[in-house]
Amino acid sequence: MSPSPASKAKGKADEPQTIELISAEVKSSGLDKMRVVGGARLKGDIPISGAKNAALKHMCAALLTDEPVQFTNMPNSLIDVRTLAQVLNHLGMTVALRSDGVAILRTKDITSHIAPYDLVRKMRASVIVLGPLLARHGQAEVSLPGGCALGGRPVDLHIQGLKAMGAEIDLDGGYIKAKAPKGLTGAVINFPVSSVGATENLMMAATLAKGETILKNAAREPEIVDQGEALIKMGAQIEGLGTPEIRIQGVDKLKGAVHDVVADRIETGTYMCAVGLCGGQVRLQNTRTDFLSALIARLELAGVEIKQDGADVLVHRNGSKLKGVDIMTEPYPGFPTDLQAQFMTMLTLCEGAGMVTETIFENRFMHVPELIRMGANITVQGNTALVRGVDKLKGAEVMATDLRASVSLILAGLVADGETTVNRIYHLDRGYEDIVAKLGNVGAEIERLKG
Ligand code: EPZ
Repeated sequence: MSPSPASKAKGKADEPQTIELISAEVKSSGLDKMRVVGGARLKGDIPISGAKNAALKHMCAALLTDEPVQFTNMPNSLIDVRTLAQVLNHLGMTVALRSDGVAILRTKDITSHIAPYDLVRKMRASVIVLGPLLARHGQAEVSLPGGCALGGRPVDLHIQGLKAMGAEIDLDGGYIKAKAPKGLTGAVINFPVSSVGATENLMMAATLAKGETILKNAAREPEIVDQGEALIKMGAQIEGLGTPEIRIQGVDKLKGAVHDVVADRIETGTYMCAVGLCGGQVRLQNTRTDFLSALIARLELAGVEIKQDGADVLVHRNGSKLKGVDIMTEPYPGFPTDLQAQFMTMLTLCEGAGMVTETIFENRFMHVPELIRMGANITVQGNTALVRGVDKLKGAEVMATDLRASVSLILAGLVADGETTVNRIYHLDRGYEDIVAKLGNVGAEIERLKG
């Protein structure tokens, strides 16, 4: 795996540096802004990083064994990875995040079973430590993650599933306090709604439970398949990955392993939308088309050409105007909610109109008012937004509110007339490695302004 620009940017490409977690505080770029000048067509290569939403779960899985676990193609520069590393380090895991995308994790002993509020509140996916911690240690206290900009983000399905596996769970003082002194027992768990996090938490817990666990209506995201494949390398017995029914036979112990993290499907889709918007031809390196079928079907309908070329994906849009198409977000393999904002931005300049329906989160249209300030014509009614194409967007000062909304504003700036400044870009740093280098290398005029 060639070192990502992040590694080149950080140190000599041939000498991986270990970013020792203890010393490397997570530096959030609180007041930094992004300045984008619109107008460039995109041309060249963009390397795709390992998937954030797989990497975070792989890190939690390292709690399940006392042996070292090594991951390659890790997006180590992301704030979410660094924040989770702090949570895991607090629990007793040694975490080495190297600048060449390698992470070496080892939990010789669990030295604390408490994931504290001041760390969990920064990154709600920390709740994914609950299952592995309970399975390994028999006790866990994890701060309730609380909501986020997208909505309430409940974790009731995680809790119900662990209770079904024999855990005693209390909610006390804003914490999930869980005990399983005699270990967890396999159970049949039927999810009323498809939940990525709950599927992952319970799949990890089940690897060390007594007997068989069956997860029905399990989430099917590629990141879950990737997590399951890593767990199988660690000695777990799992069948049905990628299907709505996952069966896990508990084992006594898991061992160390080495695993290459799957490419980031949402980063891939984000840059596909960027080419759709700006026009041009870009090679997305080390990624796939098969895990983005729903997005690609809509992009091709709109007029974007996409094809797998070996280990890369070629994306091309000539000068013709994009056609308006409708999208509705659904659990995988449906259209990904994490690409809704980016696709909506692309629709703002389409011929005709497109209807965007968000079915996963209750509040995922926060990019809309900001796009309207740039001249977009969007009408929201409940969980549906009607986007009528306009001739152009105009650069403006805008505000990022969550990870995917912030990147949609960067995309808008790439095509708007004049200059766009995006504030609060720490949201971006949570989920997009090296976005300035990656877009700058294909002709975009983009720079980070220190706050
Ligand atoms: C994961 O969040 C992703 N995050 C999200 O990506 C992604 O949008 C989401 O899956 C859906 O694909 C990570 O993997 C770190 P869910 P998660 O549990 O696991 C409801 C990004 O931008 N629900 O599948 O929290 C929930 O309210 C982020 O990278 C319950 O009701 O999502 C939501 O409506 C944003 N009870 C729906 O299920 C529960 O116990 C889907 O949530 C859990 C979830």
